[in-house]
Amino acid sequence: MSLASRITTAFALAAVIAGTVGVARADGDAERGKHLAYTCLGCHAIENYKNVYPTYPVPKLRGQHAEYLEAALRGYQSGERSHATMHAHAASLSDQEIADIAAYLGGDAIQPTDKPVAPNAPAAAAVCVACHGNDGVGVLPAYPTLTGQHAGYLERALAEYQSGARKNPIMVGFVSTLSAEDIKALAEYYGKMKPGLETVELRHSRFSSR
Ligand code: HEC
Ligand code: HEC
Repeated sequence: MSLASRITTAFALAAVIAGTVGVARADGDAERGKHLAYTCLGCHAIENYKNVYPTYPVPKLRGQHAEYLEAALRGYQSGERSHATMHAHAASLSDQEIADIAAYLGGDAIQPTDKPVAPNAPAAAAVCVACHGNDGVGVLPAYPTLTGQHAGYLERALAEYQSGARKNPIMVGFVSTLSAEDIKALAEYYGKMKPGLETVELRHSRFSSR
């Protein structure tokens, strides 16, 4: 597929999915989620904590769309994503528990802005903006926000869609033609991005003591 037709496909898919998401989802209760998420904080609340082998940063969750966090957890649960530790953590959670935890860990989701595409965007990002936004903020709650996420984690995720260790059909389609250099450039681009104020990039959770 040419780049132009990949971009057309991306925008068409983004629109199709927009019509189907948000159906039959349990509402998350962040207060309940706070208790359930206790075991998660040992990794996700520690700044720059690393997955041990292979070594890459544990993803930041604060500011991420709750709906996407739920989908990610269901992915670890079902094996659509291969990470063994996250599978173990997600395996026994009910849908309601997943919704509660996602509401708590995501906190206030970063909202998309109407920024234009940055002039330093890698050429390969032209396809990605249909769903991940010009500013790296998922244009819908089902699409992850990438801005300010650890570049090392983004690179790992993209490589896993390519290798089949992550099987999400949408992403598998969009990474298939990326070179290792494209992946690195895209990961660094989104990792360094800050839409608007520095305080609205994804971050490790800060938790109140209440
Ligand atoms: C031992 C460390 C550790 C613990 C404990 C842990 N996680 Fe994770 N988590 C990770 C790592 C590493 C990844 C990245 C996995 C991958 O590469 O797919 C991850 C990924 C995730 C993601 C996907 C984020 C994204 O951007 O797609 C979510 C959501 C998540 N964890 C939630 C949780 C929840 C909820 C708990 C507790 C029930 C938890 N984690 C416990 C290390 C941990
Ligand atoms: C049609 C919409 C769409 C397009 C276009 C798209 N993505 Fe995605 N992206 C998604 C969805 C949906 C997910 C969540 C998949 C999952 O659950 O594993 C995702 C997940 C990701 C993740 C994992 C995030 C995380 O926190 O684990 C990265 C990184 C990513 N996309 C980067 C890109 C890049 C780079 C491009 C362009 C080459 C792109 N995406 C194009 C919809 C899209």
